Amino acid sequence: MRLLKQGERHRVRFTLNSEPVEGLAEPRMLLTDFIRHVIGATGTHVGCEHGICGACTIRVDGKAVRSCLMLAVQAEGKRIETIEGLAAKDGSLSTLQLAFHRNFALQCGYCTPGFLMTLAEYLEKHPDPSEQEIRLALSGNLCRCTGYAEIVDAALEAAREMRAQAAAE
Ligand code: FES
Ligand code: FES
Repeated sequence: MRLLKQGERHRVRFTLNSEPVEGLAEPRMLLTDFIRHVIGATGTHVGCEHGICGACTIRVDGKAVRSCLMLAVQAEGKRIETIEGLAAKDGSLSTLQLAFHRNFALQCGYCTPGFLMTLAEYLEKHPDPSEQEIRLALSGNLCRCTGYAEIVDAALEAAREMRAQAAAE
């Protein structure tokens, strides 16, 4: 095994919202910092940097994870999705994003990418959640502005609409 010299960086490659990306990362670099500062996708936000606030939530191979708790090198070969990939390519917002907009489910918006990425995975797996289940699913995402009621309303509305869309297909 070859030991890395201090400051030496690894090449890291993965798909970001279906596009291949790559860059160099020191072994200790967080995935959050790699996505924001090396790749330049700044929609993923950084709050606590130790797994508490959920602001940095992204999807890795479909699973919602905190990117501040992953090293960039651990993302090698993975399928990464961030808030930039939630809208359609033509810029039209997803059902979930539209529900947030209609329900005033954000104020400063700092927490919003994390809430949306958490819910994107949760609603895929749980299409008909109760209010309590939504609150539990969002218990790892902190918002300092909204009081949460509008976020829960938006999530329930999005779930209803997604069920109706699925039934119409
Ligand atoms: S910045 Fe990752 S959980 Fe807070
Ligand atoms: S909208 Fe400001 S922190 Fe959630």
